[in-house]
Amino acid sequence: MRSIDYDTEQHKDYARGRALSQRQLDVWVSAFEAVLPERRPLTGLDIGSGTGRFTPALAGAFGPVTGVEPSVRMREVAQRQSRHPDVRYVAGAAEAIPVPSASADYALMAWSWHHVRDKPRAARELARVLRPGGRLLLRTNFSDHHPWPWWLEYFPRGYEVEASLFQPLHEVIATFTSAGWRVTDFTTVTEPSPGTLGDMLERLRLRTLSLFAQLNPDELETGFRRLEQAVAAHPDAPAPALAEPMLTLEPGEVP
Ligand SMILES: C[S@@+](CC[C@H](N)C(=O)[O-])C[C@H]1O[C@@H](n2cnc3c(N)ncnc32)[C@H](O)[C@@H]1O
Repeated sequence: MRSIDYDTEQHKDYARGRALSQRQLDVWVSAFEAVLPERRPLTGLDIGSGTGRFTPALAGAFGPVTGVEPSVRMREVAQRQSRHPDVRYVAGAAEAIPVPSASADYALMAWSWHHVRDKPRAARELARVLRPGGRLLLRTNFSDHHPWPWWLEYFPRGYEVEASLFQPLHEVIATFTSAGWRVTDFTTVTEPSPGTLGDMLERLRLRTLSLFAQLNPDELETGFRRLEQAVAAHPDAPAPALAEPMLTLEPGEVP
């Protein structure tokens, strides 16, 4: 995949293009709660926190959270929008997390694992920062477990390019088990509808999805033209809910 530089693209529109409704956020927080320890507070890390879509909600539900994000611009947006006293954002990446060893109860990686370049190193680094019994919540797609969105069919090479952004599930699991992790859960979370087809088209036009950076101008033009025609027939119909995979892992002993 062409790697995305969030400092030069997407940062301006990401929060709008990828906004979650309160209902959608509540569903995610409940899904995280189901696989996390029951005690409170929990110390959390939001790795690849972006514009902080999840970070304040994690703090509200579980306890203090550090958002770790490599892009200066994405971090700036997050900091401007942060409205929770238990949230802080720091520069860093999954391969280099600027917190002490064994200092966090959980780490969330939401839509960020596929951007990590050195995955074996990230698996070791994530194990270093979690306490024994800690949890990594990996909300990512897999090339063989993908919640294909309804609009993808309109884009030439849409399915092929989208699948190429993600690894198959067994490959992700192998990266972690090679670093001593074990899988504790694999589930799908049904994210409620994001609104109407018309709303969704407006958000897609902002192109805050990695797929759009991989398509050429002709493919984008064709795709959006076909999508607009399809949506024009039923702009107020609800966009379908998506069942999205989530893998939960527990680190082993750090050597
Ligand atoms: C699609 S956004 C997801 C942001 C946020 N987690 C969310 O769900 O809205 C991907 C984020 O991963 C970040 N990222 C890129 N490389 C990363 C890495 N090696 N480690 C952690 N995050 C990374 C990007 O800068 C970007 O903010």
